[in-house]
Amino acid sequence: VRRATLADVEVILGHRRSMFADMGFANEGELDAMVVAARPVVADGLRDGSYQAWLAEVDGRVVAGGGVAIVGFQPTPFEPTARRAWILNMYTEPAFRRQGLARQVLESIIEWCREQSFRSVFLHASDAGFPLYQSEGFKPTTEMRLLLE
Ligand SMILES: CC(C)(COP(=O)(O)OP(=O)(O)OC[C@H]1O[C@@H](n2cnc3c(N)ncnc32)[C@H](O)[C@@H]1OP(=O)(O)O)[C@@H](O)C(=O)NCCC(=O)NCCS
Repeated sequence: VRRATLADVEVILGHRRSMFADMGFANEGELDAMVVAARPVVADGLRDGSYQAWLAEVDGRVVAGGGVAIVGFQPTPFEPTARRAWILNMYTEPAFRRQGLARQVLESIIEWCREQSFRSVFLHASDAGFPLYQSEGFKPTTEMRLLLE
């Protein structure tokens, strides 16, 4: 597992697209539009450090990855700083699943967050990701969502 650099933007965008496709988002047009909109956001985040990413390589080829976005947020009792760490883009290519790669990426992210003195780390879990996060100690929260269209 290694840290991602600006040179890895397209790999990260590929993971993000495949992650949503595997989660059941079947509209290719919407997935393509998301990639176009996400490209500068991911690149800017890698450039200014507000997005940190890790990639897992097998035989010199990236097959899994994930990252953490640091976003501004009003302080809470469990995160008294004005920022929040959100894990994003967790993805392992199908042929390389169940080999512990996502766990290695996740543990690298959690370790980095500890080093940065975060008191908590957030994510939205897919059905496929839920067991992994649960086994690392993540607990479901009370978050709700209202879709406006
Ligand atoms: C979720 C995902 C990233 C897991 O990647 P992975 O590299 O296969 O995960 P790991 O091999 O590190 O799995 C670690 C543990 O998670 C659990 N786990 C992973 N996949 C699982 C599955 N399909 N069913 C049940 N438990 C699973 C197991 O506890 C596993 O440990 P074990 O193999 O020793 O039993 C991968 O399945 C994926 O890319 N899915 C599609 C995209 C997605 O849903 N991403 C997550 C968005 S939140």
